[in-house]
This record gives sequence, structure tokens and C-alpha cells, in this order.
Amino acid sequence: MCEIHSAPPAACANCSTARAGGVDRRTFLSAATLAAVAAVLEACSGGGGSFFTGPSGGALTVSLSSFPALATVGGVARVDNGNGAPTALVRTGSSTFRGLTMVCTHQGSTIDVVGGTSFRCPNHGALFNSAGANTGGQQTSSLAVYTATFDGVNTVTIARP
Ligand code: FES
Repeated sequence: MCEIHSAPPAACANCSTARAGGVDRRTFLSAATLAAVAAVLEACSGGGGSFFTGPSGGALTVSLSSFPALATVGGVARVDNGNGAPTALVRTGSSTFRGLTMVCTHQGSTIDVVGGTSFRCPNHGALFNSAGANTGGQQTSSLAVYTATFDGVNTVTIARP
């Protein structure tokens, strides 16, 4: 029953309290609005690192000789050359490497390599170390890490999703 006009729900076409399925229109719209706002806030919070984890362009093959920064253990370089999503490679040992996304986990900006060893987001200042951990600035989750396989000569293949 419409509580204002004492009419059956389907008969009270001019009333904003007309009910459908036991929930009045105002309550339904309020709940739907709150759900939409909650979804946007969740997406923008950076929590869980799930906001920008879509496909990155597939496997990426890197020629080490093209990136002098990777000649030294601890060196970091952006290596995608526009091939797929922004991607970094870190030399973690004489024959070991780590791939990292360069898409900020806060709101998706492309981060910059800083000092050849770490990262900074130009948007809100999130800082990340070469392991991908958020070390300062804007608090957010860690960067996605990709397996990087060295051929023992000059090529590293980064297993991006
Ligand atoms: S997008 Fe906000 S800190 Fe990177």
C-alpha cells in the first residue's frame, strides 16, 4: 500500500513512495547510490592493489645492451619502449632480474625512475623501491612484480600478464 495515498502499489503512479518488490523508490535509489559511491571509493582507495592490474601487453623481451643502467646490480630502467604497459626491469644480481609494472597502484599514473634505483609517482608522490614496495609519499599498495628470465647472454624476458 502507498503510505501517503492509500493506494495499491501499482495504482499509485504519481507517488515517489510507490513500492516495487517491498522497497519504496526512495529507499531503492538511496541504496543504489550508496552502493555506487562505495564502489568508486573502493576503486580509488588503492587498497588491495587491484585497481590497475589488467593485461600489460604480454611477454616483453629486453635486450640488456640497450639499457646501460642494467649493467650494474641494483640498476633500474624503463624497458617497454611503448610496447604495452609501462614496465621496468631491475637487475637484482649478476644473472637475476625482476620485472615491475610502472603503473601506480594509487590512481594509475605512470611512475618515473628516480636516481636509477627507485620510483616516484608524479601525480601524488608515492615512492616505491626496486622491489616494488611503497616506501613513502602517498600510501598505496605495492607494484605488481613480474617474473624475469635471463638467457645468460643479453636477453631478459619479462612475463607480463
Ligand atoms: S596516482 Fe596517486 S600517487 Fe600515483
